[in-house]
Amino acid sequence: MSFLSQTLARVKPSPTIAVSNLAMDLKAQGRDVISLGAGEPDFDTPENIRAAGIRAIEEGKTRYTAVDGIPELKQAICAKFKRDNGLDYTPKQVTVGTGGKQVLYNALMATLNHDDEVIIPAPYWVSYPDIVLLAGGIPVFVEATLENDFKITPDQLEKAITRNTKWFLFNSPSNPTGAGYSWDELKALTDVLMRHPHVWVLTDDMYEHLAYDDFKFCTPAQVEPRLYDRTLTVNGVSKAYAMTGWRIGYAAGPETLIAAIRKVQSQSTSNPCSISQWAAVEALNGPQDFIAPNNVMFARRRDLVVGMLNEIDGITCPTPEGAFYVYPFISGLIGKTTPKGVTITNDEVFATELLNDTGVAVVFGAAFGLSPAFRISYATSDDQLQEACSRIQGFCAALT
Ligand SMILES: Cc1ncc(COP(=O)(O)O)c(C=O)c1O
Repeated sequence: MSFLSQTLARVKPSPTIAVSNLAMDLKAQGRDVISLGAGEPDFDTPENIRAAGIRAIEEGKTRYTAVDGIPELKQAICAKFKRDNGLDYTPKQVTVGTGGKQVLYNALMATLNHDDEVIIPAPYWVSYPDIVLLAGGIPVFVEATLENDFKITPDQLEKAITRNTKWFLFNSPSNPTGAGYSWDELKALTDVLMRHPHVWVLTDDMYEHLAYDDFKFCTPAQVEPRLYDRTLTVNGVSKAYAMTGWRIGYAAGPETLIAAIRKVQSQSTSNPCSISQWAAVEALNGPQDFIAPNNVMFARRRDLVVGMLNEIDGITCPTPEGAFYVYPFISGLIGKTTPKGVTITNDEVFATELLNDTGVAVVFGAAFGLSPAFRISYATSDDQLQEACSRIQGFCAALT
C-alpha cells in the first residue's frame, strides 16, 4: 500500500509550473531565456493598493479575521458586483478565499460526490480538471475548437449534459485562449442550462477587466437572471489589479453554498491574509482608472504577437477578445523536422525544441487539453515579445 493517498494519484503536477522550472534551470545555466509562460501582469500592484496594505500593518490589522472575509471587503465585493455586473448580492452571499483558485477548490470540495460530472470546455485552465479529480468528481471535456473561435456551441453543451452533471464550469475571457463570449453567445448557452435545472454554473470571471477593442464582458447570472439561484460567480483581484502574490479571490452565490464553502475553508486555511484583505478593499473601492490604459497596452502587445505569429507558415493565431494569452495552432508544423533532426510529432516536442534551440519558453497545448497548439502569455514588454516572436519565426523557418 502506497504511503501517499490514492486521491493524489489521480492528479498531475501543474504543467505550467514545470515549464517555468525548466526555463529557470536554463537561465541558471546562463542561457538567454525569454519566458512567455507566466500567467501574471508584468506591472506592480498600484500604489494606492500597496499603501492600503502598509496601513493595515501599521494599524495592527494583523490578527485572525472572520473565516471567509472581513465585512468591509464583503461590502466592497457586493458593490463591485452591482457596479460592474448589475448583480445584487448581500454580504452573506459572499465568500473570500486565498486566491480565486482556493475559492474554486472550496466550491468543488463542498459540492462534488463520487461520479458527479463537471463540464469543462477545452482548452481549459490547467487546474480545473485536477481540482475536480481531487474532489472526487469526473471532468467532462467539450472541445472549443479553433474553427469556432475557441468557444463551445449550445449543441455541444446540450450533448455533454447527463443526469450526473453537477456543474458547468465556464471561463470567459479564457485562460489559455483569451476567447470571450459575447452576450448573445452566452445567452445561447444559458438557454440550454435553463432546460436542465439540476446543472449549476461555476463561472470563473478572473479576466473580466482584461477585455479589448469593443468586447463587452458579461457573466451568466447577468445574462440569464433565472440562473442566479444556481450560479457561483467567482472573481478576484489577482489579474486586473496585479495582485497575484496577495492571494485574494472571492465568489458570490446562494447562501447555503457560501456556508458550505466557509465550512471547507474553516477546516483548512481559515481566513485569507488580513493585510491582503484590506488591500483588496482599496482595489475594489478605489480608483479604477488605471485599467483602461493597461488594456490599451495589452491590446497593442496582443496585436504585435498575433501579427508576427500569423506571418509564420504553418501557424494560425486568432485574435482573442481578452485576458493576456494567445493560443496559436501549429497543425502546419506537425511532422516537420528541426535542423538537429528532431521531428515535431506533437506540441510538447515543439515547445521543448523551441526552448532548447531559441530560449523561448511557451506552454504546450496538450497541457490545456487542445492540440496541436501552444500558449503565449503576452504580459511582458514589447521588446521581449518582439524578440521572442522573431526567434519563433526563425525556429519555424528552419523546420523542413
Ligand atoms: C482562469 C483562471 N482562474 C483562476 C485563476 C486563479 O487566480 P488566483 O491567483 O486568484 O488564485 C487563474 C490564475 O492563473 C486563472 O487563469
